[in-house]
Amino acid sequence: EKETIISPSLLSCDFSRLANELKALEEAGLKWAHLDVMDGNFVPNITFGPPVIKSMRKECNLFFDCHLMIEQPERYITEFANAGADLICVHAESTNHLERTVAAIVEAGAKPAIALNPATPLESIKYLIPQLYMVLIMSVNPGFGGQKYIPFCTDKVRDLKAMITEQGADTLIQLDGGVTIDNCRELVEAGADVLVSGSAFFNFPPYAERHKLFLERCAG
Ligand code: DX5
Ligand code: ZN
Repeated sequence: EKETIISPSLLSCDFSRLANELKALEEAGLKWAHLDVMDGNFVPNITFGPPVIKSMRKECNLFFDCHLMIEQPERYITEFANAGADLICVHAESTNHLERTVAAIVEAGAKPAIALNPATPLESIKYLIPQLYMVLIMSVNPGFGGQKYIPFCTDKVRDLKAMITEQGADTLIQLDGGVTIDNCRELVEAGADVLVSGSAFFNFPPYAERHKLFLERCAG
């Protein structure tokens, strides 16, 4: 079993201290940072966009895992890539021509990923799996940190894992929303490779110890 990747969601950190938080994550041994971009339209909340990511980029070498919760993300792919996004994840529900949007992400030089809201079926991305670096299964309705995990999402991860294996692909599975040290093991057993954690991570410093505890619990 590969070691699980923990991608802390900066949505739960103090936005006035972004640079310090990024450095603290890096010093604690984290490799990824999950950046939640919200437009107040696709989701009922607003966060930040390319200019802030560009500033964050100067402060660390973390892998920027950018989760775009915006309508028609195809309008901004190059901006996010140029700002320093390593991975760009768009919602299947937010764009009409998903294949074209995925191709635009690759063209812009970032790793392509697709996110699915809890109720969106896996069928909608089945044929794109070979092209995807990662699929994000939302396990809460996106918009806010600190919500409760929606239980049927574990079955969805299991089904996605089977779909990826059947196709002989190496697409990563990411789970986002309501992940805790108590449910992470069953999520990894179901097939999750990358776990996003906001409130269950940032509310429990120091980060190195929290990261270590997450990895221990993920391993069983
Ligand atoms: C929700 C965001 C998540 C969120 C996770 O819309 O996409 O990344 O920050 O936060 P927790 O881990 O607190 O559910
Ligand atoms: Zn997210």
